[in-house]
Amino acid sequence: MKIISGTASRHLAQKIAKALKIDPSQLDIHIFPDGEKRVRVVDKVANKDCCVVESTSTDADKNYMELFFIVDALKRNGAKKVSAVIPYLGYQRQDHVFRSGEAVSLEVIVRILEVVGADKIITFDLHSIKIPEFFKIPVIHLSALPIFARKIREICRLSFWDTVLASPDKGGIRRVKILSKMLNNMPYVTIEKNRDLASGKISVDKIEGEVKKKAIIVDDMISTGLTIVAGADILNKNGVKEIIAFATHPVFSSDAYMLLQKSKVKKVFVTDTIDIPKEKQFPKLEVLSVAEMIATSLSS
Ligand code: R5P
Repeated sequence: MKIISGTASRHLAQKIAKALKIDPSQLDIHIFPDGEKRVRVVDKVANKDCCVVESTSTDADKNYMELFFIVDALKRNGAKKVSAVIPYLGYQRQDHVFRSGEAVSLEVIVRILEVVGADKIITFDLHSIKIPEFFKIPVIHLSALPIFARKIREICRLSFWDTVLASPDKGGIRRVKILSKMLNNMPYVTIEKNRDLASGKISVDKIEGEVKKKAIIVDDMISTGLTIVAGADILNKNGVKEIIAFATHPVFSSDAYMLLQKSKVKKVFVTDTIDIPKEKQFPKLEVLSVAEMIATSLSS
């Protein structure tokens, strides 16, 4: 097995390789003055199972192009099978036409991945469980929820019965229900959130369910941070004393990291599906690793 890392996922690829007790393979990426990239696989990959690790968060377009080139280079050099580990699948939220006239960007990405020759996709906590149906190749859809459950058991040891899970919107109820089952049916509440499609503005109206002293907001991703901040505000207004947030993908667009640090949230747990640049890390943040899960999936 060969592990090849794209530029967006160097840290995670190293951790996966370490868990598999192999060294990441060498890849030569040259950037021309106009920004175009030339990708060259240095190691011999003929007849080998290869795995490319490349998250496709900001800048999604650049990361996707690099991923397509790496898969193509591996295939041209005789790789037996190429698994694309895309821990965060960019464009996943554009999975249907929201307003007439729009493109279905995810569909375009899926077609290209198949055309360049990816044989399998491994990804995490997709926004919709229907997304694997877009692909004709196998998709292994992993979830960070077991990692979250372990952490919640650890941090809520003494306050388990005074804690509720909170879905920040109706779309997240399925996720929270699964986590609740993993945590001896921990109760949950749902926040009613609305996002204006044109302006991106968020409004939260009310909470369905009974809150407790402590609340744990669980989401698939944090992009602008507005969902978590608005959720924490309404929980706080409803008497919750301690609010913690868990989200798989730290997309952290614009100044999300500042908003989260200043927010009513005491602690923010995310995973390493996306490498967080140093300048976007903040004191309330803690990163949990999905590397072992990916390594286990690759070796099974
Ligand atoms: C929305 O449906 C998603 O599950 C997340 O809640 C959302 O994408 C988070 O985005 P932001 O951090 O920009 O509010």
